[in-house]
Amino acid sequence: MHYRPFGTTGFNVSALGFGTMRLPLNGDNPADIDRPETIRMIRHAIDNGVNYADSAYAYHNGESEVVLGEALRDGYRDRVKIATKLPTWLVEKEADVEALLDTQLQRLQQDHIDFYLVHNLNSALWPIARDCDVLPALERARDKGKIGHIGFSFHDTFDLFKEVIDAYPGWEFVQIQYNYVNETVQAGTRGLEYAAAKGLPVVVMEPLLGGCLVNPPESIREVFDDSPYPERAPVDWALQWLWNRPEIATVLSGMGTMSQVEENLACAARSGIGTLSEDELETISDAAYAFRQLNSIPCTRCGYCMPCPHGVDIPRNFEMYNNMQIFKGNQDSLNRTIYINFMAKEARADKCTVCNECLPKCPQHIKIPELMPKVHEALSRPLG
Ligand SMILES: NC(=O)c1ccc[n+]([C@@H]2O[C@H](COP(=O)([O-])OP(=O)(O)OC[C@H]3O[C@@H](n4cnc5c(N)ncnc54)[C@H](OP(=O)(O)O)[C@@H]3O)[C@@H](O)[C@H]2O)c1
Repeated sequence: MHYRPFGTTGFNVSALGFGTMRLPLNGDNPADIDRPETIRMIRHAIDNGVNYADSAYAYHNGESEVVLGEALRDGYRDRVKIATKLPTWLVEKEADVEALLDTQLQRLQQDHIDFYLVHNLNSALWPIARDCDVLPALERARDKGKIGHIGFSFHDTFDLFKEVIDAYPGWEFVQIQYNYVNETVQAGTRGLEYAAAKGLPVVVMEPLLGGCLVNPPESIREVFDDSPYPERAPVDWALQWLWNRPEIATVLSGMGTMSQVEENLACAARSGIGTLSEDELETISDAAYAFRQLNSIPCTRCGYCMPCPHGVDIPRNFEMYNNMQIFKGNQDSLNRTIYINFMAKEARADKCTVCNECLPKCPQHIKIPELMPKVHEALSRPLG
């Protein structure tokens, strides 16, 4: 494992961090985590050098923090830093901050969280963080030893990112969505460079765009296959492109199986700053260009929009639509078959009532209700 300085904190963080938002499940219920397998995966990652694990109040309906705490028993706690996040949307007054933090400490079975982030800052949630005295409350919690370092995770424009950074000199790190197809999306490369110029270590989330870059569509595969490195896996291309940048402290991957943990550990072992050649950088730039031509809905299946009060399975509808649009061929008929014959009627796109409750929750700012009729129309086309 390679390590990088985490800003001026004195901590050297592993190139690969463990994201706990997409843990293996026993069934469909996000709270029903496969605990033994998750604990095995987290411990295996730590045994192989991972020293940063990222969770949040909301992940797996609160169970991610609980399972992470369980995984860190038996001596593992001392070998890894815990990062978790304040559910900003639940804060109505300053006193809520410490109450929520105390709940998280309890779930994690800890008395200290090393890195604590204000979760999902965007144009709706930044005013809450700013105006409900969240930051003074966090400083007091830090003085009491409940948390170590204060940061924020972000899903909005570069301009807002800059505003948030500039508004509070006490930020110690930031977390942004970043990958080779998102250079100009959200904080993007400009945000990465801005944070680094301010001395803030950058934690990267969604490095594989929530898994979309694992088996990329044909046009992207062709770019990789025709490159001087046809044997390299798309996952490795995506991760090495991130690790090549000096501004990035750690790359979180939300690994859902042991084989993903193994593969990403092996990728991290090959990583380095500034090690990609001009040829390699050009290949990734061509792959990003090919991706932009696909014009899919930029849903990363993060599930922040859920639950829909009317039962629509928003990420699933978008996933099926994108599969159809991007992969065409048998994916077209397969996804229509699933939608028409097997998907619960109440979860389908046409059950959207345009209540708009999902709109402010989507980190990608997708106009969900506006797209639902188009998704329904495409997926419900009669089977031939
Ligand atoms: N603060 C925020 O607002 C926020 C938002 C998003 C994420 N995060 C954090 O950042 C972490 C990372 O984001 P992410 O989970 O979206 O990461 P990601 O690496 O972009 O996506 C994870 C998904 O990629 C697939 N994957 C990962 N490694 C793979 C491999 N070697 N081979 C094949 N597939 C692989 C898996 O998909 P399948 O499950 O389909 O196999 C996995 O669920 C999260 O877990 C969470 O801790 C924070």
